[in-house]
Amino acid sequence: PTALRVALLGCGVVGTQVVRLLTEQADDLTSRVGARLELVGIAVRDTSIARDPVVDPALLTQDADGLVARADIVIEVMGGIEPARSLILRAVASGASVVTANKALLAEDGPTLYHAADEAGVDVYYEAAVAGAIPLVRPVRESLAGDRVERVLGIVNGTTNYVLDQMSAYGMGFDEAVAQAQELGYAEADPTADVEGYDAAAKAAILASLAFHTRVTLDDVSREGITSITADDVAWAAKTGHVIKLLAICEVTPDGVSARVHPALVPLAHPLAGVRGAFNAVFIEAEAAGELMFYGRGAGGAPTASAVLGDVVSVARHRVLGGRGPVESSYAQLPIASPSST
Ligand code: NDP
Ligand code: HSE
Repeated sequence: PTALRVALLGCGVVGTQVVRLLTEQADDLTSRVGARLELVGIAVRDTSIARDPVVDPALLTQDADGLVARADIVIEVMGGIEPARSLILRAVASGASVVTANKALLAEDGPTLYHAADEAGVDVYYEAAVAGAIPLVRPVRESLAGDRVERVLGIVNGTTNYVLDQMSAYGMGFDEAVAQAQELGYAEADPTADVEGYDAAAKAAILASLAFHTRVTLDDVSREGITSITADDVAWAAKTGHVIKLLAICEVTPDGVSARVHPALVPLAHPLAGVRGAFNAVFIEAEAAGELMFYGRGAGGAPTASAVLGDVVSVARHRVLGGRGPVESSYAQLPIASPSST
């Protein structure tokens, strides 16, 4: 093909930056893909609200179904379970490739999407769903596929790291810090998902599924957020040479695969203690590779759009050259440790 039709579902914090990159880097993208990426429409809830000038109002539509039906590549950055899941399934069934940043959906029902993609022979890619700009899904899924991953540990939620950092470094109140994280575009549409640990747990489920080649869902992850952390806790941690971080820890235990998310006291000398603001950092221990560390911007419109566009280039190249990326649904099904026992 000389052009591929791209449909964008959602034009919020992430979607707007996706439009920017598609527009500003159009020539580079064309040469990297070998075909022009033509944005044919942008599905939103409300077509009347003011948007960033980079967004052509003529492309906005409330008819997401109709838009999906005329696309080669569908980028889903609307969030939530429905209608995102139905739209992705419809896209895949019609032979379109999909790129999504929707970790909540993948943690709840990813295998349904991967299975549908296998049936249709198309890609469903989701690098942006875990740790924003940091390349993590691909290294775990592909680069480490010949090794045995033993442990994945790190900070995978930018909002809570930002909030804890603001409380600890500047004495800011919890509510004010959450409000700032919302303004900066780090938080989920409902920030409860961040501060109660659901977002980090969804990412832990996705990472554990990939790292341990088994199916881990949100319900398998034991979870505690940061809502009970007080200014006194933060001050006491500092006095004892620590900082409080929300950690995700996925590992293979004698009881099976275990995944958990909870606040932890991190000694100031530990590299995770220096992860400031909305940055994320993830350590991976693998049998042959040893210890690996990934670090970067874990939230925000532009960093997340970077990961989305990387996936768009990959799936577009597959459409131009033929073939598709790795298949997700061939899990070995290791046992999962009960969340209560971790
Ligand atoms: P926003 O809330 O900023 O944007 C959501 C967009 O989707 C809006 O444009 C909204 O329309 C549209 N939308 C929502 N529901 C519907 C619907 N039913 N039909 C049509 N359009 C709809 O979210 P974000 O951009 O922050 O996040 C999008 C996705 O990316 C989520 O899955 C999130 O988890 C994920 N993500 C976000 C990151 C971040 O840092 N923000 C980082 C990594 C992943 P309207 O504008 O009309 O309201
Ligand atoms: N709300 C998420 C966070 C966005 O704060 O990390 C990135 O996934």
